[in-house]
Amino acid sequence: MTTTPTIELKPSSNPLSDAEREAILANPGFGRHFTDHMVTIKWTEGRGWHDAQLTPYAPLSVDPANMTLHYAQEIFEGLKAYRRPDGSVSMFRPEANAERFQASARRLAMPELPVETFVAACDALVQQDQAWVPPHGGEESLYLRPFMIANEVGLGVRPANEYLFLVIASPAGAYFPGGVKPVSIWLSQDRVRAVPGGIGFAKTGGNYAASLLAQAEAAAKGCDQVAYLDAVEHKWVEELGGMNLYFVYGGRDGKPTRIVTPTLTGSLLAGITRDSLLRLARDLGYEAEEARVSIDQWRSDTENGTLTEVFACGTAAVITPVGTVKSAGGEWTQSGGEPGEVTLKLRETLLAIQTGAQADPHGWTHQV
Ligand code: PLP
Ligand code: COI
Repeated sequence: MTTTPTIELKPSSNPLSDAEREAILANPGFGRHFTDHMVTIKWTEGRGWHDAQLTPYAPLSVDPANMTLHYAQEIFEGLKAYRRPDGSVSMFRPEANAERFQASARRLAMPELPVETFVAACDALVQQDQAWVPPHGGEESLYLRPFMIANEVGLGVRPANEYLFLVIASPAGAYFPGGVKPVSIWLSQDRVRAVPGGIGFAKTGGNYAASLLAQAEAAAKGCDQVAYLDAVEHKWVEELGGMNLYFVYGGRDGKPTRIVTPTLTGSLLAGITRDSLLRLARDLGYEAEEARVSIDQWRSDTENGTLTEVFACGTAAVITPVGTVKSAGGEWTQSGGEPGEVTLKLRETLLAIQTGAQADPHGWTHQV
């Protein structure tokens, strides 16, 4: 059933004061504070999507036998709303998130939310809580977290017959507090994030749970993030725990700049930032392609000077340069540990489009 229910508005009678909200917006961090409202939409077998509401942000009451708590039938998305120079607000490519949410739902045997309902729910929340969208001019934004959980009570292992879709919002500063400072990467050769035929391409909590131990091990080795390799040969670079990767070749001594991102194998997430950069790079006159990149190639191309920069990209992290790379076999450094020129150019161009500081030739921004 794909009918889009109308969202019933039940605004909070007790939102945070302007002063409290402004104190939060002065230093939002990432995912620490939430706005005054949330959207909820129910799905029931035989009835479809119903009871769409925008209500005050509040805890959920969850039965201890709720199926999500036991079998993790859960999916989520992440997208941002930005304040534009004229004071209006736009979201970046919400339809692309809605489509990926549908792909995640299919893989997790959950009902697909219509694209227009997903976008309407995000629009309604941003509209209601627009005072929470940070001012134009910086990198701050309002991060939206749409998600869906199974909402049936019972311990039988099967797809649930009831679901709850929600959207919450959180003002966001830099994901890495160091700003555009390069992050260090641990190349994980024994822990894998996802396997062929598995759920790696879906944005579901289990993939993140699977990454936490490797992330803790990386931190113990002094690294900020883990880069995962393919689960079969343990040699092809896939992605980080919450970001895709890009490799920048050439761009020096008159050689054309070519940017390469690992091919979508089904075990990594098809990032919307990744997709946007394939197109933006071409607009900027670079060659851009998807290809398999092995760890040996990564290291040898860095050491022979052809691989000049590596960066990570994603909604939360935008574009973040990679500095030191450590693996069981040794350690090396990209771009002398400084943010590379191409990395910074792509970052600046992407942010300018997202925040409305520059024209959007691809129609990616969605005015709220
Ligand atoms: N890979 C993973 C595992 C992620 O969690 C994310 C973040 O959403 C990304 C890549 C980047 O995707 P996007 O650019 O759509 O945010
Ligand atoms: C995002 O970039 O939106 C993510 O979901 C990454 C992380 C916060 C899980």
